[in-house]
Amino acid sequence: MSFQIAIDGPVAAGCSTVARLVAERLGFLYIDTGAMYRTAALLAMRNNINLEDEVQLVELVRKSKIELRKPTIGEKDGRLITILLNGEDTSWQIRTDEISRNTPVVAKHRKLREVLVEKQQQIAAHDDVVMEGRDITYKVLPDADLKIFMTASDVIRAKRRHMQMQSRGKDLSFEDTYQELLKRDKIDTERSVDPLKKVDEAMVVDTSDLTINQAVNMIEAQVRAIKEIKL
Ligand code: C5P
Repeated sequence: MSFQIAIDGPVAAGCSTVARLVAERLGFLYIDTGAMYRTAALLAMRNNINLEDEVQLVELVRKSKIELRKPTIGEKDGRLITILLNGEDTSWQIRTDEISRNTPVVAKHRKLREVLVEKQQQIAAHDDVVMEGRDITYKVLPDADLKIFMTASDVIRAKRRHMQMQSRGKDLSFEDTYQELLKRDKIDTERSVDPLKKVDEAMVVDTSDLTINQAVNMIEAQVRAIKEIKL
């Protein structure tokens, strides 16, 4: 039986960084589902498809090959995961500001989500996984062995996002970063299809005052405790 860790949380709560390290420590597969929605946005933009045109979007995503894999030695350039779109490495192209703004628009389409959720469930069927996103704890992996809702205060998340953008050479003001983050949170939590939410059984990990290492340790300890009970 595979072991599934499901993590949901808003922008810059630390989900990706922590999930990837947890996966590394435990030897699990790390799956960044946001990267799949970002790829759908990239596809729409490259093919001049209106972000509201669900039918065309679904068709395009269906006929495209989206692959996620652990970065190889030659790909170690700060990325957490490698994304291949029809064989092309688009790992950094999906991280632009424009894609971050457009992805929540694409991600609100029910049919598109069905296609991507199915892919995510297939990936998680045979491997031990740490999967993170917005709907993992209740939609993609409702029977996960461990469910986590990762969060942090708005200001701290905006500060992290701002630093991240600056490190990538983006000259966005803190105020603009903060407003964009709130806007993205609003779309993700208020959309009618699979919104970001905390399920009752989820363990809350508030990373506002935690180091990355402390958050990873907390989750690792919880996994080991669950595994002991299951033995
Ligand atoms: O996790 P990340 O910030 O890269 O996700 C980008 C966007 O993809 C989110 O703002 C959200 O709109 C969408 N998303 C989603 N469901 C997921 C993962 C991401 O709707 N499981």
